Amino acid sequence: MLRWMGLCGLGLVGAWLPSCLPMPSVAAGRDLYQANGCASCHGRSGHGDGPAAAGLPSGPADFRYLSQFKRGASEAAIARTLAEGISIVHGMPALKTTHHMLVMPKFDHLTETERRSIALYVISMRANADEGRVQP
Ligand code: HEC
Repeated sequence: MLRWMGLCGLGLVGAWLPSCLPMPSVAAGRDLYQANGCASCHGRSGHGDGPAAAGLPSGPADFRYLSQFKRGASEAAIARTLAEGISIVHGMPALKTTHHMLVMPKFDHLTETERRSIALYVISMRANADEGRVQP
C-alpha cells in the first residue's frame, strides 16, 4: 500500500498520473445517472420523458438534441450545470415581481469526477442519436 502511494506520488510529476487519479468514464456515469434520479425527469434513455417531467414548468432536456444544451454541451459545461442546478425566472406580472424557481436540483454533493462521468454519459446519449451529433 505504501509502495503504491509512493508510485502515485511520483506520478504527480510523470506518467503514472492517469492510474492514480480517478478518471471520469461513461460506465461510471451510467450508474450515477441511475443512482441520482436523473431518469425521473429526463427518462431512462434521456429523451426528456421521465415520469416527473409532466409536472415541471419547463420540460427536461432531451439529450439527443444539441439545441437543448442552453448552458453548454461540452463535458465541462454539463458538469458545471450539474454542480449549479438550473433555476428559471418566472415573471408574475400581476404581482409586479419575479421569482427564481429551481427546476433541476444541483448535484454539488458529487465529486467533479462523478459529475464529469455523468456528463460523458449524457454526451454518449447524444452521439447515438441520428440528429444533433456533435461535430468533432
Ligand atoms: C426534477 C427534475 C430533474 C432532475 C431530477 C434532473 N433534471 Fe436535468 N433538467 C431538468 C429540466 C426541467 C431541464 C431544462 C431546464 C430549462 O432549460 O428550462 C433540465 C436540463 C438539463 C440539462 C441541459 C442543461 C442546459 O444546458 O440547458 C442537462 C445536461 C441535464 N438537465 C442533466 C441532468 C442530469 C445528468 C441529471 C441527474 C444527475 C438531471 N439533469 C436531473 C430537470 C431535471
